[in-house]
Amino acid sequence: MAQSALKRLAAEAALAHIEPRLGRKTLVGVGTGSTANCFIDLLARVRHKFDAAVASSEASAERLRRQGVPVIDLNAAPALEVYVDGADEVDPQRRLIKGGGGALTREKIVAACAGEFVCIVDDSKLVSQLGAFPLPVEVLPMARGLAARALQRLGGTPVWRQGFLTDNGNIILDVSHLRIEDPLALEREINNIPGAVCNGLFAAHAADLVFVAGLQGVRRI
Ligand code: A5P
Repeated sequence: MAQSALKRLAAEAALAHIEPRLGRKTLVGVGTGSTANCFIDLLARVRHKFDAAVASSEASAERLRRQGVPVIDLNAAPALEVYVDGADEVDPQRRLIKGGGGALTREKIVAACAGEFVCIVDDSKLVSQLGAFPLPVEVLPMARGLAARALQRLGGTPVWRQGFLTDNGNIILDVSHLRIEDPLALEREINNIPGAVCNGLFAAHAADLVFVAGLQGVRRI
């Protein structure tokens, strides 16, 4: 089965997971990337189960609107039932690397506002230890050199994602060769680099549930 078909299978599992909450608005947080796009393209089918969506990127907001899904600002959302997003890597503890699409900061913010973080991936994203995928770090443009040197001292090889600006107007450094033995400690250490806005390690707030699509079907971690 093609990878795109597996992504759609994982997205369908997340769609079936959405349940309306009685007596209050049901708001769904929506991630960014090709797997999240599969989820967005299916969302209109369960429009009766939720009131509105909060998007983790301008691209996802635009795609949601094209599907006829109302998109509201996070500050207007008291609480999200669920946040659904893909990932670049998933370890057995449901810790993630995200940000291949550059939306990591908003993804981390929206995920933090949700009662449940549901991650949807095909099985090529499963790893025993995070770090083969270069870790994206969003950095204020003026801090590019400083942050790159700090990331080198941590053992990484940062590469400036040239020609790319995040929705927040910042740059991305993609960091290879990091030994990520303690994802939580590294997430915190990188957050302490002056000018680093956010990094793509989701360890402090890992996924609550991962739907993994493979040739045998969808399984839950
Ligand atoms: C976007 O910034 C990312 O965090 C994506 O969620 C991640 O890169 C997974 O993307 P795909 O679903 O396209 O593989």
